[in-house]
Amino acid sequence: MASVKKVKLCNVRDINEGEIKGFRVENKNIMVIKIDNKIYVYDALCTHRNCNLARMGLLKNNRIICTCHETEFDIETGKPISGLARKPLTKYEFEVEDDIINIIIP
Ligand code: FES
Repeated sequence: MASVKKVKLCNVRDINEGEIKGFRVENKNIMVIKIDNKIYVYDALCTHRNCNLARMGLLKNNRIICTCHETEFDIETGKPISGLARKPLTKYEFEVEDDIINIIIP
């Protein structure tokens, strides 16, 4: 059976409403998004040409917009809705324990 790894990211209070915050863990660029008090965790690299969405991303109308070449990703699924990217963003499962966000790395 494949093993999974749980990695501590941050406290939920470290992320402001409407913010995309980047982390580097396990050699991966991860972004945590908080919007409408809901948290999303994705790989931060745009699937078009690897712009880091923690720096180059904007949130608008439930979309993550890569400002490098304007691809828009659905915030719920990570799928590209418009623009140049064809692959969805990798979404990470996570748990919140005592206000700490731990992501699950498969
Ligand atoms: S790198 Fe994101 S749209 Fe091109």
